[in-house]
Amino acid sequence: MTTEWTNDRAIAQWGTMPRALLEQTARDGDFAKRHLLNPVLLRMLGNLPGLRVLDAGCGNGYLSRMLAGRGAQVTGVEPGQSLFGFATEQEAVAPLGIRYVQADLCGLPGLGAPFDTVVASMVLPAIPDWAGAMRACVQVLRPGGLFVFTVNHPCFEQLWPVWREHGEYRTRRYLAEYEIPGPSGTDFHRTLSAYLNKLIALGCQVTELAEPGLDPEAAAGGPEGIVAARRAA
Ligand SMILES: C[S@@+](CC[C@H](N)C(=O)[O-])C[C@H]1O[C@@H](n2cnc3c(N)ncnc32)[C@H](O)[C@@H]1O
Repeated sequence: MTTEWTNDRAIAQWGTMPRALLEQTARDGDFAKRHLLNPVLLRMLGNLPGLRVLDAGCGNGYLSRMLAGRGAQVTGVEPGQSLFGFATEQEAVAPLGIRYVQADLCGLPGLGAPFDTVVASMVLPAIPDWAGAMRACVQVLRPGGLFVFTVNHPCFEQLWPVWREHGEYRTRRYLAEYEIPGPSGTDFHRTLSAYLNKLIALGCQVTELAEPGLDPEAAAGGPEGIVAARRAA
């Protein structure tokens, strides 16, 4: 349960992600990101040239680089040591004008002027104090700014092991909060209503909820959920 977890403990786990994995996903993420998330994220983020964008929990920086390559002025925040080190190294090798800051979203230093857009892709489920992190993402937005976040769809997070065991999808304990250990770090299951009600309590207007599925010809994988919201003007 998340009560036994601190942000620091979670960050320490994520921050040991091996270099081979960071390299494998450096261009456009993993299979799910390539086929499910990136196309919808880019559509939701819209016209990027000149916009100040925060990539909150940017990991190895693949999305920061994609957004900077499309003209955004990107700041990437990442607390995990190996991920932050890899992202800054990529920027040194092929500069795109991305500023990386090593920090916990719940303890952000000043990042300058408010952002037009904040994107947090697959990050909130990795954070014990996810509500504090979401609050921080909204607080650094300009009024009317866009916040887009992605999470594994909480109905389908453990698709593959459940499929292997039962030959069909089964969802258990949907309403409870529990941890999901992963190869690179721990995620936490939370309901969609937890995320959406917090967003509404922060004064955001939900503008779109997407549940993209794979094209039939794409190989196996799990549907994920993407939410876009605007900070109140
Ligand atoms: C599943 S990875 C996603 C990374 C990246 N956004 C991507 O899409 O590739 C989760 C990320 O959340 C980061 N993270 C964990 N706790 C955090 C915190 N308190 N503040 C900011 N980022 C955090 C991890 O270090 C990791 O990079």
